[in-house]
Amino acid sequence: MTKKKPLVVVTRKLPEAIETRMMELFDARLNIDDAAMTKEQLIEAVKVADVLVPTVTDKIDAAVLAHAGPNLRLIANFGTGVDHVDLQTARSRGITVTNTPDVLTEDTADMTMALILSVSRRLAEGERLIRKGEWAGWGPTLMLGHRIWGKRLGIVGMGRIGRALARRAKGFGLSVHYHNRRRVHPEIEEELDATYWESLDQMLAHVDVVSVNCPHTPATYHLLSARRLKLMQPHAILVNTARGEIVDEPALTRMLADGEIAGAGLDVFEHEPAVNPKLLDLQNAVLLPHMGSATIEGRVDMGEKVLINIKTFVDGHTPPDRVIEGLL
Ligand code: 8YV
Repeated sequence: MTKKKPLVVVTRKLPEAIETRMMELFDARLNIDDAAMTKEQLIEAVKVADVLVPTVTDKIDAAVLAHAGPNLRLIANFGTGVDHVDLQTARSRGITVTNTPDVLTEDTADMTMALILSVSRRLAEGERLIRKGEWAGWGPTLMLGHRIWGKRLGIVGMGRIGRALARRAKGFGLSVHYHNRRRVHPEIEEELDATYWESLDQMLAHVDVVSVNCPHTPATYHLLSARRLKLMQPHAILVNTARGEIVDEPALTRMLADGEIAGAGLDVFEHEPAVNPKLLDLQNAVLLPHMGSATIEGRVDMGEKVLINIKTFVDGHTPPDRVIEGLL
């Protein structure tokens, strides 16, 4: 008799090749319509599933996990950040959590660099000018932005994405500064020409561009608080491709409006998909709908990782991308 395939509930529509393989390997319940699941639907899913494949749009909190059936042993997240999953509760219920690191590093670093350039060189504003039919022709003082070559970049969180950003930044002539819980290996510092700042406060006061690249954990919630944002120089800009919750969004919005910070490039928001309406009116903010890892290649690679994590787990081995809380 062949073994029953595990029931895998996938909460959102994934690339076709991944869904096809998912159906070959497992008893997969897909979400073809791609409508984000309600809390009730998530509860129904954890009751019956052997494996849940959520994304950033699914809040797998203690209230949802309280309904987890005895079969639920694995949450194989489609994405690297797992701040939407209550890891502690998952652990206490013996549920393993995996994620999809590495494969979205380069795409997210590209998007971060794109935002740094967009804000500094006013790309979105220029585009709006043309689309509104308001461009009257070239002018020597038209749409002047700021040069990034020769400026200082301060990276908050020197993990995979922080380092990939540092490599790109070097090519654009930015000097690399970083703050991290732990100083990185001297060889990496040397390769990246990176200067370590033990004090985040001091780094913020000394750089021209701040990029948020750390995970959102209880320890990093509002790490860039109103007090810390005020330490930034008025000509400085802030870019966030990590998680909205790391930055005090209302404080940032106020400071952008008052010219206390020159600009911001935001791919993530505190209450996605809601965006602070005051941000929408600000010319000095470039706003993107959480698309840092949104490449076809990246999303297929993320899906492959999910498949490998599930397959390894159901075959009785430790999945390659098991999330270990303390290491986040
Ligand atoms: C993903 C992300 O698209 O991986 C992450 O942490 O933020 C995004 O790039 C999203 O999380 C998918 O669940």
